[in-house]
Amino acid sequence: IDKPNVVIVIFGATGDLSKRKLFPSIYRLYQNGKIGEDFAVVGLARRPWTNEVFRENVRDSIQNASLNAEDIEAFSSHFYYHSFDVTDTSSYDHLKILLEELEGNYQTDGNRIFYLAMAPEYFGSIANQLQQNGLKDSAGWTRLVIEKPFGHDLESAKALNNQIRVAFNENQIYRIDHYLGKEMVQNIEVIRFANGIFEHLWNNRFISNIQVTSSEELGVEDRARYYDHSGATRDMVQNHMLQMVALLAMEPPIKLTPEEIRSEKVKVLRALRHVDPDKVDEFFVRGQYGSGTSKGEVVKGYREETEELAGSTTETYVAGKVMIDNYRWAGVPFYIRTGKRMKEKSTKIVVEFKDIPMNLYYKDEAEKHPNLLVINIQPNEGITLYLNAKKAGIGSIAEPIKLSYTNNGVDGINTPEAYEKLIYDCIIGDTTNFTHWDEVAYSWAFIDSLLQAWSASQPKFPNYPSGSMGPQAANDLLEQDGFHWWPITE
Ligand code: BG6
Repeated sequence: IDKPNVVIVIFGATGDLSKRKLFPSIYRLYQNGKIGEDFAVVGLARRPWTNEVFRENVRDSIQNASLNAEDIEAFSSHFYYHSFDVTDTSSYDHLKILLEELEGNYQTDGNRIFYLAMAPEYFGSIANQLQQNGLKDSAGWTRLVIEKPFGHDLESAKALNNQIRVAFNENQIYRIDHYLGKEMVQNIEVIRFANGIFEHLWNNRFISNIQVTSSEELGVEDRARYYDHSGATRDMVQNHMLQMVALLAMEPPIKLTPEEIRSEKVKVLRALRHVDPDKVDEFFVRGQYGSGTSKGEVVKGYREETEELAGSTTETYVAGKVMIDNYRWAGVPFYIRTGKRMKEKSTKIVVEFKDIPMNLYYKDEAEKHPNLLVINIQPNEGITLYLNAKKAGIGSIAEPIKLSYTNNGVDGINTPEAYEKLIYDCIIGDTTNFTHWDEVAYSWAFIDSLLQAWSASQPKFPNYPSGSMGPQAANDLLEQDGFHWWPITE
């Protein structure tokens, strides 16, 4: 069924994620007829809110998404609030009664989604309490959605996974990596495998390097506690960046099933070359922003943002040369970089092709331009292919030209937001765009090797000004191989 009825239980319903992403996404699904009339959302958090206060909050969060007041009213009437203490067993008893009551009012067939949008330290115990208190014993299916971070390293991720697996099977667990919900991230696979002209060249014979950049303009904002404990490597590389690398590098799946796609991604993650502590500086660069200018305004350095960040050695920037030791990719660097307080917000992939054996059409070596396939993930969505063509006029001189495609979404409307697609996938039971435990485990093993190597020395921070593209060492990283970062704006 493409429109199953369901009760969605959100843990952390008064939080930022619920308000910014979850409610608006559920609203758009509702508006577009992607969920049936028979759905209910139960919000849980500590605050002693009433249904009415909760609904007011929900309405607030979707103001921008709709102008139809009646619609908003009808939508918010599906929301219920329950004041909840995750550590208290009686809270779960009450929740069970509430769910049974709602399931009497709405024809949700006992289908339940438990969405953990809160502090990770409770993930394991919530999963267990749900099991022990019979909240999973409904007539329909039950699924568990987990936000990141999934562990702090391989060991803690394993411990968390073991805890959750006592209560839920792997196929009931939906680990969110919201990059996998982005339209152009999903498009990587289609661009690669639905075109005869790329796949034959997609290997170490024809590609010289691949660059994946995800830059952010914002600083740490109000997440200092979480972020300082995490850093850019755990926050962005372990999940989003490595997922993009896996999609770029994987073999074609034999079928479009979650199992087949995942097994190809896992093979890539298994082949990641772990970091040799003696060579870490040849392969990775860490950075932390100092003060500088962002959007024309002077902004503080990371260490000045709050008192608790004074003297922090947490990295807010990572650049790396990731090597995939397999037949297809041997010798091809995948350069990745991500950071806070960079020049602008952009996520972009550049696939750089090798030179042709002899090029007669450029007078000057320096003017030669390689073929590039650029995949723009955000803020613009699209693809640009750089080719060489004859300069108009007399003589046979080549110049680079661009073939560009901009994704205008469905019927000219913006493409659905990542969360909207992921929530829908969860409702229909499609796990393709969620991270399987094996992917989590292999990416942590790689990240552990990097963090371990870094732990041997103290970084000299801050080492890049806010509003820049990161430390100079990140440029040297490519220059030592004869490459350079392609610009993030074209
Ligand atoms: C999150 C990180 O997973 O991704 C944030 O925790 C980061 O620190 C965000 O800002 C970036 O996501 P997006 O979709 O804005 O690129």
